[in-house]
Amino acid sequence: MGSFTTKDGITAAVDALNTAMRALEEAPAGADEAIARRNLRLEATKLAISLGDPNEDVWPRIFQVNLSVAIEIVTNLGLWDAFAGGATVTLMGVVERSGADEMMIIRIMQQLTAAGILADMPGPGYRVTSVGRPYLDQTHRAFNSFVLQEVIPSVCAMPRTLAERGYKSPTSDSGTPFKWANGEELWTFLGSHPQRAQNMVMGMKSLNTGSLAGDAYPFGEELAKLDIKADEVAIVDIAGGQGHIMDEVHKLNPQLKGRIIVQDLPSTFEAVPGPPKGVEFMPYDMFTPQPVKDAHVYYYRHILHDWNDTDASRLLQQLVPVLRAQPWSKLLIVDMVLPDVNVGMLEAGDNAEP
Ligand SMILES: C[S@@+](CC[C@H](N)C(=O)[O-])C[C@H]1O[C@@H](n2cnc3c(N)ncnc32)[C@H](O)[C@@H]1O
Repeated sequence: MGSFTTKDGITAAVDALNTAMRALEEAPAGADEAIARRNLRLEATKLAISLGDPNEDVWPRIFQVNLSVAIEIVTNLGLWDAFAGGATVTLMGVVERSGADEMMIIRIMQQLTAAGILADMPGPGYRVTSVGRPYLDQTHRAFNSFVLQEVIPSVCAMPRTLAERGYKSPTSDSGTPFKWANGEELWTFLGSHPQRAQNMVMGMKSLNTGSLAGDAYPFGEELAKLDIKADEVAIVDIAGGQGHIMDEVHKLNPQLKGRIIVQDLPSTFEAVPGPPKGVEFMPYDMFTPQPVKDAHVYYYRHILHDWNDTDASRLLQQLVPVLRAQPWSKLLIVDMVLPDVNVGMLEAGDNAEP
């Protein structure tokens, strides 16, 4: 149709890829290497996109949500565990187990083979690939379920809800696109639906890499410098969910002295059996004054991106009197920092959470 990227355009994309590869080769190990690897992937993605037929690519782009839907159906069928250890699951095995139409299963599985999550095997059957292996872990499935069930419906409503509001950014007064679509905010909705909160709580374990990993900050090394006594509060993890990061910090640093407190909404704590060993739960609304006045570290992980600037500043202000009274306390904020340009899909998605 004459809309292919020109050969010059592809050459430019290959040049950009090679430049990014050289930057990766020269990057020292650690954060610089991670950034260089991410940039290389972005350039590789641009190259791959430039090779497609732009008209033909309109269709698969529209149907991207099919993939989350197929992952959810395979979860509902209880199939993921059957792929453990690299096992092949036969098509007929799935049909018999589910009572589904063979053609329906073929169509669902095709979504996953096309995305490289499953590989077609002779038989016919399916085997999980390295890309699909994360779904053998319940936390990734839970995050898929949470986003598909709770978030995507309000994303789908956004062409309407944004138009109704003149394409204005959400504010504390207007509420978020989730509220526009559902009449109340996500966190209060989950508070009155603890069963539904379980996927959110479990799904938060799904993102635990790079700068968001529990070991991204050297808690052991840094807190050892502070001479913390056993009865003092070492860390308060504000809105820390089920305490999974503090669990990791505790396990990685068993020598760490002092209490570790995780604060969150009561509904979040109701969605889990109890705090991990060595961690205490404290129900707390982070928009109210911080009740723990003497902790060595106050920690927010993956929180600020959920709120507009006014709310983010309102929740941080709850700590100001505490930090003024004891300036030796540390405030640690772990979140994604978005570049102005060349934003990847992960950051773009997280930044658009309604
Ligand atoms: C994106 S999750 C992050 C959880 C955890 N910090 C992590 O990194 O996995 C957001 C958390 O904020 C909590 N939250 C939402 N509103 C809150 C509030 N007003 N006070 C305290 N926690 C809140 C939710 O219950 C949820 O656990």
